[in-house]
This record gives sequence, structure tokens and C-alpha cells, in this order.
Amino acid sequence: MADTLTITDNRTGQTYEVPITDGTINAIDLRKIRVDDGDFGLMSYDPSYKNTAACRSAITFIDGDLGILRYRGYPIEQLAEQSQYLEVAYLLLYGELPTSSQYEQWVHDVTHHTYVHESLKRGMDGYRYDSHPMGRLIALLATLSTFYDDAKQVHDRKNRREHIVKIIAKMPTLAAWAYRHSLGRPYVYPDNDLGYAGNFLSMLFKLAEPKYKPHPVLERALDVLFILHADHEQNCSTSAARAVGSSEADPYVSLAAAAAALYGPLHGGANEAVLRMLTKIGDLKAVPEFISSVKKGESLLMGFGHRVYKNYDPRAKVIKRLADEVFHVTGRNPLLDIALELETIALNDDYFVKRKLYPNVDFYSGLIYQAMGFPVEMFPVLFAIPRASGWLAQWQEMLEDPEQKIARPRQIYTGHNERPYVPMNKRG
Ligand code: ACO
Repeated sequence: MADTLTITDNRTGQTYEVPITDGTINAIDLRKIRVDDGDFGLMSYDPSYKNTAACRSAITFIDGDLGILRYRGYPIEQLAEQSQYLEVAYLLLYGELPTSSQYEQWVHDVTHHTYVHESLKRGMDGYRYDSHPMGRLIALLATLSTFYDDAKQVHDRKNRREHIVKIIAKMPTLAAWAYRHSLGRPYVYPDNDLGYAGNFLSMLFKLAEPKYKPHPVLERALDVLFILHADHEQNCSTSAARAVGSSEADPYVSLAAAAAALYGPLHGGANEAVLRMLTKIGDLKAVPEFISSVKKGESLLMGFGHRVYKNYDPRAKVIKRLADEVFHVTGRNPLLDIALELETIALNDDYFVKRKLYPNVDFYSGLIYQAMGFPVEMFPVLFAIPRASGWLAQWQEMLEDPEQKIARPRQIYTGHNERPYVPMNKRG
């Protein structure tokens, strides 16, 4: 059997043969299907890219029906169990797990770029203390672009590596300072003796003690959460990073765009929305009433459902287990019972079963973050820190892909035909 698709255009009776590669037809092949010479050619219409592959990628594999997630071929469960976030970041960016000397160099480089320019501190001070920290993170990521003019050389590999290191290194500093600014606490400078997650905890929570010692269970839990959030192939924020990066904008502004996409409650803002939802439900007795309001379409069960997963999100499974370890240290989050009850009811209710709605990564992560002492506004910020490595890996892959050009979708124009300008005194 030939790997082709035969299309008959019933408008003209003409037949076309289109190659199928990797289970995909090339949309540009449709262009030759025309009614006459003046016809632009057939396009495919796919609002929200529900069935359109916009790139080839060797970074992350997801099977949404089976609930499989792999980074560069390695199952997420094994990485969460045995790896460390910076090792995973290296894997995403460079395709292979680092050797011990590569890892040592990588950790050294990231650790030695955690400081940010002092003017950024003044930039942070310019924001109101009660402004959302994600807004500040997005703005300061873009601001970093103004410090590194050479970051515009996006096709220079060496230069790219330098800025990739800088971004991964500085994300926790910006995030922690955004948090400290909300509390009116002095900013804490990075501590190079600590690991990536440990240093972040120090910059967040250090007070008068001369040396902050992160709790090993919480430090490891945060590192695992970072691994789970590091990449998720062509999601909304990654597509934003790729689209902005495709204009050859520098990585700082490309990532600011990605972070802005992540901010929305249907994406990285969902963990914040889950906590607000659980707090609003407030009591186990109120769960059935809330579920029936969801079924009536009055609200969404936040943290449920996914564009790709039509099965239990494998990250949610790891996080559920992690929650037990964290609660052992911090005490049980009282909202956990409400979450468990919601999950039990939803997984047995026809409405959710029929629509294949299962808990996603955000359903339990917020409970852990809250137990660790983070306010809900910090949740999307905590998501953005590790996702930076995924965004950068995807951005880099896009730049090295000879098939990629500036992102520029087509449209079906639905507006007026040409009409003459109407002077103001003749309108309406
Ligand atoms: N609660 C109740 N009903 C839902 C939910 C939900 N969380 N999610 C989807 N549905 C329903 C829809 O109303 C729709 O029902 P219908 O067929 O009767 O109209 C059906 O399930 C299909 O949903 P879509 O919106 O078409 O699914 P889509 O793939 O476009 O949306 C999304 C995916 C945005 C994640 C959606 O499930 C959602 O809004 N979930 C809540 C927000 C959330 O948790 N987001 C985090 C996603 S993970 C991440 O980004 C890190």
C-alpha cells in the first residue's frame, strides 16, 4: 500500500495524490487543490491547533490516551525518581543525560550565573507590593533582554548556550525576589553552596540566620516538581516561545512571551485556580453541590481535563505520592480531603468519564506548594522556573530546524468586502 492520500475534489472532479509522512500530510500540499487558476488553493482550518503538527520535535513524547510522558525517551516516572532537575534541564537542552564531567561543568555554570544586575532590584521595587508576582516575573524576564544585547545573535550556538545558562540560573532569583517584594522583606542573594532548589528556598525563606538550611525532604520535593514541570511539548506557552522566537527575537523576550501564556488560568495559572476553588468549596459537605454546578456548566472543575491527556496525567500520579512525603514534614493540608473527594466523585461520574476528564498536573501540586508555605499567587511562578528549560530547548530546536520559518498562520477572512470610507458627519 502506498503511503499517500488520494483526494477527490467534488467541485472539479479532479483527483490528487498527497504523500503521507509520519502519519501526517503536509498542509502546503493542499494548496495545489484549486477550482481555477485564480483560486488561492485549499487550506486546512484548525482553530487552536487541535490537529495540526507545527514542528518536528525530538524533545518530549506524550501519549495522551495511555498517559505516557517521556523526555528524550526517558519515562517521567524514572526521571522523577532518580534524576535531578538540572540533569533533566541538560537532557532536554542537549538530548542526552550528561556525563559526570559534563554535569559538573553544567551545575558550575548555572550556579555561577544566579546573580542579577542590581538595577533589576530597583526594577522590582517599582512594582506595587500587592501586584501579582507572575506579572513581575514576565516583566523582569523581558527586562533582562535590555542587559544582554548580544543575546540577539540567536544563530550563534556558543552565544545561545551562554544565555540559556543565564536564564536557567536567574529564574529562581527573579522568582524569589518577586516573592520577597510582596512581603516587603529584603532580597536574599544566591548561596552557591546550595543546590538549585535549595538555593531557591534560601532566597525565598531565609531570615536572620547566617546560613539557611533547606529541609532535605522539601528541597527534594521541589526538585521533583521542577522535573515534572520542565517540558510538555507543544503546549500554549511553548508555542508562544517558538512563535516569538521564530522572528529571531532574543531568548529573554521569547521567554517573557511564553511566561505570559503560562500565566492564564487555563494553563499554568490552573494550580492557583485549583487552590482558590478548593478554598471556596471549603467543606467536604459542599463537594456534591459543587460537582453538580460543574455539570450544569456553571463552573469548571479546575485541575481536571487536558487537551492531550485523555487518561490520568502521569505527572499527577507522581505528585499525589509526593504530597504524602511533604505533608509528613509540613502537616496535612486540610484542603487535601476536599481534593480527594472531588477526584473520587469525578472519576465515577458519567459527565467526567464520558469526556475523559482526569486530574492533571495542577490538581495536587498547589496543595504541596501551599503546605510548603507558598501563597497561591506564587504557583504559576513556581511552574515557570523549571519550564524555562523546556521553553529554551524547544526554542533552540526551532532555530536549528531548517524547515522552520517565521510563524505566520493563515486565516479565513469573515469581514466586509471592500467598501468606501464614510466621513464622520455621514455615519449612523
Ligand atoms: N471541568 C468541567 N468540564 C470540563 C473541564 C473541566 N475542568 N474540562 C473540560 N470540560 C468539558 C468541556 O466543557 C467540554 O464539554 P462539552 O463537550 O459538553 O462541551 C468537554 O469537557 C471537552 O472540553 P474542551 O474544553 O473542549 O477541552 P479542551 O481540550 O479544549 O480543554 C482544558 C482543555 C483547557 C485543559 C480544559 O480541560 C480546562 O479548562 N480544564 C480546567 C483548567 C485546567 O486545569 N488547566 C490546566 C491544564 S494542564 C496545564 O496547562 C499545565
